[in-house]
Amino acid sequence: MPPETSQLSLTLLSLTLLFIFSSATIRLGSTLYASNLNASWSSPNGTFSVSFIQDGPSAYFAAISYAGGVPVWKASQRAVDSSGSFHLLSSGTLRLVNGSGATVWDSSTENRNVSSASIDDSGNLVLLGNNSVSVWSSFDNPSDTIVPSQNFTTRKVLESGKYSFTLLQSGNLTLKWNNSIIYWNNSLNSSIESNLTSPVLRLQSIGILSIVDPTLPSAVIVAYSSDYAEGSDILRFLRLDTDGNLRIYSSARGSGTTTKRWAAVTDQCQVFGYCGNMGICSYNDTGSDPVCGCPSQNFELVDANDSKQGCKRKVEIEDCPGSATMLELPHTKFLTFAPELTSQVFFVGISACRLNCLVTGSCVASTSLSDGTGLCYLKTPDFVSGFENPALPSTSYVKVCGPVLPNPSSNMQVLDDRKSWRLRAWIVVVVVVATLLVLVALEGGLWYWCCRNSPKFGGLSAQYALLEYASGAPVQFSYKELERSTKGFKEKLGAGVSGRRNFEVSPETNRKKFSLWAYEEFEKGNVKGIVDKRLAEDVDIEQVMRAIQEGIMEIERPPAPKAFTEGSVSGPSMNMSSNFSAVSTFAASASASAPAPSSSSSLQIGVSPLPSDRNLERTSSSLLRPSNPN
Ligand SMILES: *[C@@H]1O[C@H](CO)[C@@H](O)[C@H](O)[C@H]1NC(C)=O
Ligand SMILES: *[C@@H]1O[C@H](CO)[C@@H](O)[C@H](O)[C@H]1NC(C)=O
Ligand SMILES: *[C@@H]1O[C@H](CO)[C@@H](O)[C@H](O)[C@H]1NC(C)=O
Ligand SMILES: *[C@@H]1O[C@H](CO)[C@@H](O)[C@H](O)[C@H]1NC(C)=O
Ligand SMILES: *[C@@H]1O[C@H](CO)[C@@H](O)[C@H](O)[C@H]1NC(C)=O
Ligand SMILES: *[C@@H]1O[C@H](CO)[C@@H](O)[C@H](O)[C@H]1NC(C)=O
Ligand SMILES: *[C@@H]1O[C@H](CO)[C@@H](O)[C@H](O)[C@H]1NC(C)=O
Ligand SMILES: *[C@@H]1O[C@H](CO)[C@@H](O)[C@H](O)[C@H]1NC(C)=O
Ligand SMILES: *[C@@H]1O[C@H](CO)[C@@H](O)[C@H](O)[C@H]1NC(C)=O
Ligand SMILES: *[C@@H]1O[C@H](CO)[C@@H](O)[C@H](O)[C@H]1NC(C)=O
Ligand SMILES: *[C@@H]1O[C@H](CO)[C@@H](O)[C@H](O)[C@H]1NC(C)=O
Ligand SMILES: *[C@@H]1O[C@H](CO)[C@@H](O)[C@H](O)[C@H]1NC(C)=O
Repeated sequence: MPPETSQLSLTLLSLTLLFIFSSATIRLGSTLYASNLNASWSSPNGTFSVSFIQDGPSAYFAAISYAGGVPVWKASQRAVDSSGSFHLLSSGTLRLVNGSGATVWDSSTENRNVSSASIDDSGNLVLLGNNSVSVWSSFDNPSDTIVPSQNFTTRKVLESGKYSFTLLQSGNLTLKWNNSIIYWNNSLNSSIESNLTSPVLRLQSIGILSIVDPTLPSAVIVAYSSDYAEGSDILRFLRLDTDGNLRIYSSARGSGTTTKRWAAVTDQCQVFGYCGNMGICSYNDTGSDPVCGCPSQNFELVDANDSKQGCKRKVEIEDCPGSATMLELPHTKFLTFAPELTSQVFFVGISACRLNCLVTGSCVASTSLSDGTGLCYLKTPDFVSGFENPALPSTSYVKVCGPVLPNPSSNMQVLDDRKSWRLRAWIVVVVVVATLLVLVALEGGLWYWCCRNSPKFGGLSAQYALLEYASGAPVQFSYKELERSTKGFKEKLGAGVSGRRNFEVSPETNRKKFSLWAYEEFEKGNVKGIVDKRLAEDVDIEQVMRAIQEGIMEIERPPAPKAFTEGSVSGPSMNMSSNFSAVSTFAASASASAPAPSSSSSLQIGVSPLPSDRNLERTSSSLLRPSNPN
């Protein structure tokens, strides 16, 4: 849609707001009872009404609903029983009371001279003071939903369980879990954001979500409802759902049904915490709804009736000292977002990613992304959120008390043949291969250009001598090495897949960034963002999707890429436990005799096959108790 048009519709919207909505008055002293769901305070033409709605056998909510019974505001997320009531007290406050007479929610407007309340045809419930000024309104105190003509500003927040949605001063929209983990954000063009004075997020009634600001010549569009500008007498609204996704819905007047039209997080499994702590989110053949499960039978559901509450170990790690091992989860990733990014992300190869976690007391799980970035997430016990997808190159490990009891294969390993997954798999493969090619090219270039004759090189690599096993088993970094790496070292060690050459991991490489960016955009469903900006206004996104899909189908599937293998460690230090100190001592003594990384025997990271579970167990116990072999 050209900016002029959106500007025009916004102007029309403002006019609508200013001149058309009429409101119905609610007198002080009025009361609604949960026992009578038919009673309501309705807007003049009945588009919205305040009433109790029932959601469960004994769960009643005081809500504003759209015609047909679709709630768009709730006084409280806490339900009351069938004896609950909702009062507009003569003191001027709105109060939700449960069957025992306890106050569940209050508008806190006592002694503010409220003389009446009103509900208008836009869905706004307002408490009016003398002179008809608004003292409190539901639009200014949203719960989990924004309707057209509601202004969502920077001081407001949508909340749903542990999830929240906010608009920042920069125009950046964020979804947070537990008020800390930012698992989704959508920012404006940086040349615009610094100038914003009072950004407002609005959903136009035709289904366009946009940000307006006095400094902006026109509204900046964030998302289109898939049915935008279609139909009549349809309410579109934006809701933060209990599953942590932000969605646009549409509802035809009187139907009482809603249809999903847009979701901020395209893949529900990537909503942080969706399956609870240690829960693994995946999809199965039968439904498009995500399924929550546990990593293995070493775990059980916290609540057998609600798989979204997460999993717990049947035997805690503390209860099996020495026999902890790492359960391998192929195609699985543990999510890591800011602020965890600063403390849980490391550059290590796949074996080191597993072993570092095994020997670190504060680590409960790890993920080797294996997507060409060389990144490894080491998860701490606070909260671990994971998802599994056959197209995902990542491999994850979870610390469990041996022996490993894998899930019956049907559950977690079901391959999903739906087109979208195949498409995604191709994108991943293409991105990984492209990234590897770029890295290999760079490796050669950088080697000759800057590093080949550097005398520094040999000396430094000795500092990063690796713990190594004669058997060719995986290699371990010591605490000191990890710590040293926090001082921003950019030296190299380890080796490429092909053998002895050293190369530098160069995450700043533009092309690699681009591939990642393109993949992320694709994953977010923002295909439009990948297309040349100059064309973006004109392209038919469905056509682009089809073209990508067809183009991909014609190529022969390449063999699965080998795990990216290198040993450079960077990023902040881990929190080490006493367990780890023991190992680092061991590692240090072992490293004294270890050959320099440029010799072939030290180049085993990720190249050698993974040890079997048995071997791994033995490895772990010898690592943890070097003086007390099994
Ligand atoms: C109710 O009023 C609103 C605002 O004036 C208007 O948009 C809507 O079409 C009306 N609905 C009916 C059924 O009259
Ligand atoms: C509520 O309305 C429905 C139909 O509109 C009716 O069947 C029912 O008896 C009403 N209940 C009460 C308590 O008035
Ligand atoms: C009402 O709320 C109070 C306080 O939260 C609680 O103790 C009481 O059990 C509730 N009563 C009912 C009937 O839900
Ligand atoms: C309420 O009204 C009284 C008398 O008109 C006035 O003195 C007082 O400031 C008002 N309070 C508020 C919060 O407006
Ligand atoms: C509101 O104004 C009316 C007259 O204008 C007055 O009688 C009434 O006491 C006022 N109420 C409050 C709460 O100030
Ligand atoms: C929303 O903002 C517009 C423009 O700033 C304003 O005209 C309108 O009254 C506001 N709507 C509400 C319900 O506050
Ligand atoms: C959520 O945040 C609170 C307070 O910030 C913290 O105490 C709590 O541990 C967090 N919950 C989880 C599961 O991380
Ligand atoms: C936040 O936005 C930036 C820039 O668009 C992006 O790189 C980053 O991945 C986003 N973070 C999340 C958690 O979506
Ligand atoms: C958006 O805000 C979040 C939270 O402050 C921040 O982590 C993220 O980097 C921001 N995104 C951009 C592109 O600025
Ligand atoms: C940001 O906005 C400016 C001016 O509106 C435009 O020239 C520029 O291309 C935009 N940049 C991006 C990355 O969209
Ligand atoms: C933002 O402000 C700077 C100076 O304050 C100005 O040069 C720039 O053009 C402004 N950008 C926009 C998009 O208005
Ligand atoms: C697939 O998921 C549905 C729920 O979406 C579940 O009821 C069903 O049991 C699952 N099937 C398998 C084979 O896991």
